[in-house]
Amino acid sequence: MRRTRAGGRRVLPPRCGALACGLLLTLNAGCHGPRSSLVPAGEEAARILPLFWAMVVGGTLVWLLVIGLAVYATHLRPRAHRYGTVRTFLIGGGVVLPTVTLAVLLVFGLRLLEAPAPPADALRIDVTGERWWWRVVYENPDGGDPIVLANELRLPVNGAAVLALHSHEVIHSFWLPSLAGKRDLIPGRVNHLVLQPTRLGVYEGACAEYCGIGHANMAFAAEVMQPAAFAEWLARQAAPAAAPSSAEARRGATLFLQLGCGNCHAVRGTAARGSVGPDLTHVGSRHTIAAGRLPLTHATLRDWIAHSAAIKPGTLMPAYPLPPDELDALAAYLRELE
Ligand code: CUA
Repeated sequence: MRRTRAGGRRVLPPRCGALACGLLLTLNAGCHGPRSSLVPAGEEAARILPLFWAMVVGGTLVWLLVIGLAVYATHLRPRAHRYGTVRTFLIGGGVVLPTVTLAVLLVFGLRLLEAPAPPADALRIDVTGERWWWRVVYENPDGGDPIVLANELRLPVNGAAVLALHSHEVIHSFWLPSLAGKRDLIPGRVNHLVLQPTRLGVYEGACAEYCGIGHANMAFAAEVMQPAAFAEWLARQAAPAAAPSSAEARRGATLFLQLGCGNCHAVRGTAARGSVGPDLTHVGSRHTIAAGRLPLTHATLRDWIAHSAAIKPGTLMPAYPLPPDELDALAAYLRELE
């Protein structure tokens, strides 16, 4: 690092100050917002937050101790130690300090692991990591077919949900920082995660385990709602798709089946019954498409159908470079599926 001298003192060049400011601002950006674990919106996230601060404070103290000792050894040039001082230092710093520190951390960690059992009436939600999106399945409150959604959770505030996490191919990790810690989705086993949101809002989550080319584009959102609004939303999601109302949307519905979209996607109440891709029965009510890659609008639906592979490399959705009027018709149909 280049240094300059001012009045006999060595000072860092201005570029270093700007760099430090930029770094601090970047770090600060992680302190709030829809993906922050530092402002918990759920009981799970609040329960594990003290662990983060214990690690930050503990790590800082250890760093200061090590740097202090290094400065002491290299700059303060202590005179030759007597044997007794060295032995005290080795036994104190090499045996007593780590034993006490690790014992305290062990007790602290074990107490954090004791999560209270979720209530018996908690929602049951199956979440499966796909290539590269999230299949979300709610139990049907009327006892009918399960409600299949994609890349979006909705939860009642002050309620509880138990997520059963599945994967068929590779390991993913479900992470919704504002609501809970992360949990892996491992092929061949089912892991569980309890969510107990305490604050209304829309929170963002992502896959936190590298799972292939689409890993960075495997996001999702969770909206925490008032219980009455949640019940209304779930009842709407349980219903089959509404018939298209405009002429353009009706043309889109016909094209959807003619082009074979229904081989991969289901639209309940129609002949589209595929299960490879996301269920589109109520796609128009979602906030985003392509696992958080784009906000859901008419224009982004058109773009996604025409250029899926370019927008999200590795997606199993083939690109359909159709004439503009057909893209408009398909987008109009999908927007109406609310
Ligand atoms: Cu799924 Cu990374």
